[in-house]
Amino acid sequence: MSDHVVAVVGAGTMGSGIATVAARAGYRTLLHDIDTGRVDNGLATIRDFLTRSAKLGKMTDVEASDAFARVEGSTELTDLAPATVVIEAIVEQLDAKKDLFGALDHIVSDRTLLHTNTSTLSVTGIASGSRLAERVVGTHYCNPAPLMKLVEVASGRHTADWALQASIEFLRDVGKTTVVTKDRPGFIVNRFLIPWENSVIAALEAGLGTVESIDAAVTGALAHPMGPFQLLDIVGLDIHQQVATRLYEQLRDPRFYPPPMVDRMVAAGDLGRKVGRGFYDYTDSSQLFGA
Ligand SMILES: NC(=O)c1ccc[n+]([C@@H]2O[C@H](COP(=O)([O-])OP(=O)(O)OC[C@H]3O[C@@H](n4cnc5c(N)ncnc54)[C@H](O)[C@@H]3O)[C@@H](O)[C@H]2O)c1
Repeated sequence: MSDHVVAVVGAGTMGSGIATVAARAGYRTLLHDIDTGRVDNGLATIRDFLTRSAKLGKMTDVEASDAFARVEGSTELTDLAPATVVIEAIVEQLDAKKDLFGALDHIVSDRTLLHTNTSTLSVTGIASGSRLAERVVGTHYCNPAPLMKLVEVASGRHTADWALQASIEFLRDVGKTTVVTKDRPGFIVNRFLIPWENSVIAALEAGLGTVESIDAAVTGALAHPMGPFQLLDIVGLDIHQQVATRLYEQLRDPRFYPPPMVDRMVAAGDLGRKVGRGFYDYTDSSQLFGA
């Protein structure tokens, strides 16, 4: 196991989850966001996850507090200078990501791996903001990052083979399994998951079943660990809408276009677990999946 210093940029849903993964694996972890409040929320999310893991017997109290002690919050990009791996998990906007990688050029060392957790943007496009494009690798974590094992890995057009191999090694060190895919919209998983989720939502709109009965049918028939509506509530309806629309715009395949129910739910603010209501109501905590 190499000795890494991991910087995670963006302290939202994915960034705080990925920082948890790095700290739990034993690495010094720098969690950076432009927004101080997001850094504080991210740190609180990490602490809560580790505390809950200890309560569930997945680690000792000492391991949980040691892991949390490895995480440092930051709002200054220059604080990331010691990083050997930077994992970008900021807003899904090409210009923002390009600017970030361009700014990192002047801060990180000449062997630092630069990872992007983009769901829908081109790794090559993001890397074009950097003079270090040979070290930019797409590493797409599944949500929730601390629980889901798989990371999809994709090289951009100028990614060096050593950077790809070192990234796979790093991901193995933090306990992930990897599949290598191409820098194409949706990588592997979202390429079929998004049309499938859209068709499940369309089935609900068509009255084929209720949220509960469709989830029960899928878990019962396909042995998925959770139903599609439980999953959509974890991902967030706004994120599903954004990812689906972006993939539709690139692939021009109507199966990616989000059904009208998604727009109505987003307009109503029923975004899923993060707000307490989506397809399910989480105000009664006994209903929380996996809580
Ligand atoms: N949510 C998911 O299920 C999921 C799954 C896989 C990948 N992703 C991808 O991960 C990335 C982050 O998604 P998320 O759901 O965590 O978003 P989020 O909105 O929860 O968090 C994004 C964070 O980035 C911060 N940020 C924005 N611009 C920044 C900048 N220039 N520098 C530093 N911080 C900045 C914001 O303040 C915010 O805290 C996106 O690229 C998304 O496509 C999301």
